[in-house]
Amino acid sequence: MVKKKTCIFISGRGSNLKNLIHRSRDKSFPVEISLVISNNKDALGIDYAKKYNIPYEIIDTRIKNHELKVLKFLKKYKISFICLAGYMKIISKKIIQNFEKKIINIHPSLLPKFKGLNTFQRVLKNKEKKTGCTVHFVNNKLDGGKIIVKKSFYLKPNESELSLKIKTQTLEYKAYPEAIIKTFRNC
Ligand code: GRF
Repeated sequence: MVKKKTCIFISGRGSNLKNLIHRSRDKSFPVEISLVISNNKDALGIDYAKKYNIPYEIIDTRIKNHELKVLKFLKKYKISFICLAGYMKIISKKIIQNFEKKIINIHPSLLPKFKGLNTFQRVLKNKEKKTGCTVHFVNNKLDGGKIIVKKSFYLKPNESELSLKIKTQTLEYKAYPEAIIKTFRNC
């Protein structure tokens, strides 16, 4: 099997990146992590790229034409698939056009509920019975692309934002690899 050369976009801790690096070492896993892009030079996740000898690029998304820079690196590393993992920037139209149906994202809620930021806070405020995570394709609508995998759990009494985050992220480490396998199942 020829693994798809994949780029992971991060902005922060990179625990999903770490998990995907581990999973991609499995021979039958459909992708290899060939590049990490961060828009934040201080993202802790960059350390995983260093540790596992994965090329990484830091791109300041505040500068004009940063998308062209991103596209240049994606081309240089022959990237054919993109996973957003805690990337705190909206992907520009230009990049989406170049990678149509080849960009996926993980979101810490049961989409279409709670798109955008501060999901745990809103889940608690709304007294939701259930929450979880969703892996979906990225299109021009925020957190609005086709859903690939959703995983959920029931809230217990006295949940906090922190307890929800821990439980949700534990599910994310299962959901993201599962969604990647599902995406390439029929390729
Ligand atoms: C995850 O909870 C993901 O759902 C959200 O950002 C978080 C990233 O965490 N989009 P990490 O950087 O992978 O630890």
